[in-house]
Amino acid sequence: MEAIFTVEWMKQVARQARAEGRLIGFVPTMGALHEGHLSLVRAARQQCQPVVVSIFVNPKQFGPSEDFSKYPRPIEADRAVLEAQRVEFLFAPTPAEMYPDGFRTHVSVEGLTERLEGRSRPGHFRGVTTVVLKLLEIVQPHLAYFGRKDAQQARVIRQMVRDLNLDTEIVVCPIVREPDGLAMSSRNAYLKPDERCAATVLFRALGTARQEIAAGERDAVRLVAAMRKLIDAEPLATADYVEIVDADTFEPVSRLRRGCLGLLAVFIGTTRLIDNMLVEEVEDSGSSFRVSL
Ligand code: PAF
Repeated sequence: MEAIFTVEWMKQVARQARAEGRLIGFVPTMGALHEGHLSLVRAARQQCQPVVVSIFVNPKQFGPSEDFSKYPRPIEADRAVLEAQRVEFLFAPTPAEMYPDGFRTHVSVEGLTERLEGRSRPGHFRGVTTVVLKLLEIVQPHLAYFGRKDAQQARVIRQMVRDLNLDTEIVVCPIVREPDGLAMSSRNAYLKPDERCAATVLFRALGTARQEIAAGERDAVRLVAAMRKLIDAEPLATADYVEIVDADTFEPVSRLRRGCLGLLAVFIGTTRLIDNMLVEEVEDSGSSFRVSL
């Protein structure tokens, strides 16, 4: 694996791969790699060669009271993991390389970014879209891979790629979970042992909703209430939001429809975790729904 630290060097490698007619697959990350990231790397490897993984803890997507400085940065362990996955290129720029003095341009996707994560984390999506646009311009990937755990992020990035006519296809991959259902996240490392047990409440809440949907419940308000009740019963958990939204607009729905997402953000102690379920109407069934956790 070749580690690349500068924008110019990365652009040159990308230009050459494109000139050779190779299909560039890209997995953008902030490091602290886990099985969720590796599932994206594997998906990229199946379709592309070379695969580029970026590790960049993007200061612009953290609010002033968020965890930018304590965000885990186990760079040597991450490098070893990527070597073992036979990744061709690691792109690991410094903040000064990505945002040199005098940097002034930001990208915002309107509407989709104002609710849910956007409301709880003002400025977050502006930071995400700015860095992702820069990374796509630098790495020039044919395909870029994102996890469905960050469902709103994936939707916002798709919108940006469409609106700005970028030459990259966005691939969204399933959520990868621990054996007890907790969605993999670099922030799980912050959880103390009792919090780690309590953190399964997100998966349990989604599981309750899935059971109710299987039993015929279609009312989104009642499904949200059932999830909230479970979260409220967990002493270490505080719900930030629990919603069922249209998977395209991210606006709340009152009844299940063709494509919906059940979205949760929950504080476990001081650690904020998110999770979701995708609810899709089974084609031609009239009223039967498939729930993917
Ligand atoms: O999902 C993440 O890890 C980050 O938001 C991303 C896409 C790498 C941008 O910094």
